Amino acid sequence: MDKIDQIILEQIEDKTVSGEKLSKLTGISRVAVWKRIKKLEDLGYRIKHSSEGYRLIERTPYLLPVEIKRALKTGYIGKNYIFFDQIDSTNIFAKSNDLPDGTVVLAENQTKGKGRKGRRWISSKGKGLYFSIVIKRNYPLNDLMKLSLLFPYAVKEAIKDYLENQIKIKWPNDLYINNRKFAGFLIETEIEGNEINRIIAGIGININNEPEEFGDIKDTATSLKIEEGKTFCRKEIFCKVLETIEKSLNNFNSLDLINEIEKDLLWKGENIRILDEGIEGKLIGLDSSGGLKVLTEKGVLTIYSGDISVRKV
Ligand code: BTN
Repeated sequence: MDKIDQIILEQIEDKTVSGEKLSKLTGISRVAVWKRIKKLEDLGYRIKHSSEGYRLIERTPYLLPVEIKRALKTGYIGKNYIFFDQIDSTNIFAKSNDLPDGTVVLAENQTKGKGRKGRRWISSKGKGLYFSIVIKRNYPLNDLMKLSLLFPYAVKEAIKDYLENQIKIKWPNDLYINNRKFAGFLIETEIEGNEINRIIAGIGININNEPEEFGDIKDTATSLKIEEGKTFCRKEIFCKVLETIEKSLNNFNSLDLINEIEKDLLWKGENIRILDEGIEGKLIGLDSSGGLKVLTEKGVLTIYSGDISVRKV
């Protein structure tokens, strides 16, 4: 979308404007105005055509840069915003390009959405939020666990006020409602010595997805729409999520993240099994660096590897 499209959109936002007036204002012919109106409609904008001219009825549901720019209130997260209608995976793109700190890469549809442990992330067009955030700052390696917990914490904080249901955090970083997962995080890092130099935080949030989209995982996967019984505005949630992530990153050192996460930790006080390690016991909470504490027959074990799967027994 270029400057002329933006002028047309601004003009027809709250009033009907004739093709002739739009032609004068933009310096292009009336036929060219009509072609641009058609292009805007293809981008998802709903425009009423009448004998008096054109009027915008509804903005596009797609998360186009022009839409995000006017709604987002952040200092650096998303200031560089890269939008794809379709891509293999936003994480793959963010990892293989040298993008500035705070860049957000979003796709309406991913053909190879990556989940943890080589799984795939179902990314139906226009239904969820599929994006990656590039953080190019230095953090001590010791903060790795806490940093990867920050993203689910911030997303939960951003979304909770929109919901009737309570959000739970499944360690290390899944978000659940009613025992089913609606958001996942793929945190990929670049480490040099004892420092983290770059974080690619890949975030998938099922917003308006329908049960059929989840196929054979529909018993364990869900969306906000399925749980709450209503459709959500993805743009509003996306901006709120980015704003809350930025705020949490800015307060990283003063935020009592461990305590905050423990309050909403899924299966706290219940018996769980750690599939890959064959450990079984009672989930008692988190230690000061974010590891999972499990009370087993052999005493308290703390698990730090995020690359595991926890199940309830
Ligand atoms: C998981 O729970 O297994 C992690 C899912 C992460 C999915 C997101 S969607 C946007 C970003 N791009 C990807 O390919 N994956 C992450």
